[in-house]
Amino acid sequence: MALPKPLELVQVFLKQAVRSGDRVVDATLGNGYDCAFLADLVGPSGKVIGFDVQQQAIDRTRERLADRADRSELILAGHESIAEYVEPGVSAIVYNLGYLPGADKDKTTSADTTLRALSASTGLLKNGGLLSIMCYVGHPGGMEEGCAVKDWAAELPRTEWRVFQYTAVNAPNNPPFLIIIEKL
Ligand SMILES: C[S@@+](CC[C@H](N)C(=O)[O-])C[C@H]1O[C@@H](n2cnc3c(N)ncnc32)[C@H](O)[C@@H]1O
Repeated sequence: MALPKPLELVQVFLKQAVRSGDRVVDATLGNGYDCAFLADLVGPSGKVIGFDVQQQAIDRTRERLADRADRSELILAGHESIAEYVEPGVSAIVYNLGYLPGADKDKTTSADTTLRALSASTGLLKNGGLLSIMCYVGHPGGMEEGCAVKDWAAELPRTEWRVFQYTAVNAPNNPPFLIIIEKL
């Protein structure tokens, strides 16, 4: 067998946590890969609510979704406003931090807005729901953001949240890491 990389592991966990008909959130749409994966999991009766601050991310995601677009709601807004758009009771919220590949690398997620979004996200998950945060720490501001996410996650009460971190231990140049959180 080949051990899954952190990003592949997200999909393994999501397949277990998300059922047909569920509502889920993609908090960073980017090129739409995560959104398309989630749209397949929730099926025609479910819904993926997606956020991005760049119109081209919304456009690329809509294109990737193709005939699955009707099970999505794509919102041009920062995920820090997630609570204004999403009703509680979602089974997964997925963050893939950093910049949009193939676009302006200065338009990245940032520690301040990410932490506000994560705090709001905890109030929206149902019991057994997953909060997944993929942290890329190689670009300017990435390490600060990743450390802030890890510190935030470390403070979640153990009686209410199961929290794990996954990363390649023997990779060079600050490899990305995954923080995965289950609401108990
Ligand atoms: C690494 S990409 C996401 C990749 C995506 N999940 C995929 O499957 O292709 C990060 C995205 O976060 C977006 N972003 C930056 N700040 C944001 C914010 N405050 N709220 C929502 N999205 C944001 C960027 O525009 C970028 O498209």
